[in-house]
Amino acid sequence: MTVNLHQAQAQNLSMEQTASLGEIVKTKDHANLPLTERVTRSIERLMSSPNFYRFSVNNILTRWYAKRRTSQVFDLMAGFVNFQVLLTCVKSGLLDRVYEAPCSLEELSFYTQLPKENMDRLVLSALSLGLIDKRDPERFGIGRLGLPVVGYSGIKAMIEHNAVLYADMLETANLLKSKEHSQMHRYWPYTLNDAQDDASFVHLQQASSAKAKQFERYSELMSASQNFVIDEITSSYDFSGHSTMLDIGCGKGRFVQTVAQKYPKLQFELMDLPLVMGLTQEHLAKTDFFPRLSFNPGSFKLDELPRGVDLITLVRIAHDHSDEVVHALLRKIYLALPSKGTLLLAEPMADPKGAKHDAYFHFYLLAMGEGRLRTPEQLSKMMVQAGFDRVRLLGNPMPMHTRILVALKH
Ligand SMILES: C[S@@+](CC[C@H](N)C(=O)[O-])C[C@H]1O[C@@H](n2cnc3c(N)ncnc32)[C@H](O)[C@@H]1O
Repeated sequence: MTVNLHQAQAQNLSMEQTASLGEIVKTKDHANLPLTERVTRSIERLMSSPNFYRFSVNNILTRWYAKRRTSQVFDLMAGFVNFQVLLTCVKSGLLDRVYEAPCSLEELSFYTQLPKENMDRLVLSALSLGLIDKRDPERFGIGRLGLPVVGYSGIKAMIEHNAVLYADMLETANLLKSKEHSQMHRYWPYTLNDAQDDASFVHLQQASSAKAKQFERYSELMSASQNFVIDEITSSYDFSGHSTMLDIGCGKGRFVQTVAQKYPKLQFELMDLPLVMGLTQEHLAKTDFFPRLSFNPGSFKLDELPRGVDLITLVRIAHDHSDEVVHALLRKIYLALPSKGTLLLAEPMADPKGAKHDAYFHFYLLAMGEGRLRTPEQLSKMMVQAGFDRVRLLGNPMPMHTRILVALKH
């Protein structure tokens, strides 16, 4: 949409807004631009012209570039179809089936109950995406990208869960205007305004069964998808220097479980909303390290944090919340820790240069509510503002799953 200066004035834009719009209009005057900007714009004009495309695709030296860019643009356009193919392969059981043993089209149609006459469309699409593989002229087996999907229940759970985000993304502009009616916002009950009420439920039984189901559903999803994050943290951080660890927003306690098994001397405080804490206790009740655990049902927004711990962990917590909530939480953590106490924060973080995967998290968190994807620099700055004086970014093997910041209280 272009707005000229007269329209801007007619739309009652402020003086500053009108002035900056004036700047934009002025900078359209090519001759007035700085040299570097003029060069950049000339290259952009050239690269977006059909003549350049035709030239580059017909020239043996530039063809590779034209091919790569065309394929990348096509991938952007086809993204939603590719995802739906993946979802259908998961939901219909097709991937599990070909993993058990290679199958023919007829066998797959019988097994998935999808019509035989169109089975080839799904199978050939899955083949083109690397989800399945052709074993011989008649049969299909599991493919390179299908392997992790069948191997990790967490990936399957997240793929099926994507359907919720998908519904919100149908009208992305509406989502940018307001997430009030988004399905994701409702999926995560603690992002709704009544989240504080949830802190008053002491036991699952006291909540309505619909409410309890909501908490159970997301806690199960988190538990299923936490493995990758746990691996990253435990392979990058040595917990042996600590005596008591508090995991805030611990979910069903899988992270605590892994650390407890690896470090037999460590004691644990676990904290989550009361409706989750019941599930956590149930999940960990039969473990041999149960005597080393203390459970603290409550809200980190409303309640005091347990004292006497020298390590506090926040795993996939900060990105769910507004800057205001995160500032308050970090300050609370700082005050709860003793001198030389440590905060470990792990979650997916934005790449300052804008990695491709950031788009998913930006919109996931927008649809969810008040949270946002932050860069390690932004989070480090917030930690320093809370009082921490040394913040380190650990180098973990797979930063796409999570990045890890460790802050020390002096
Ligand atoms: C995205 S999940 C992460 C769970 C777990 N740390 C993981 O990585 O799988 C966020 C967790 O924070 C908990 N949570 C949200 N708001 C909270 C609050 N105000 N006080 C305590 N826990 C809260 C949720 O119940 C949920 O278990």
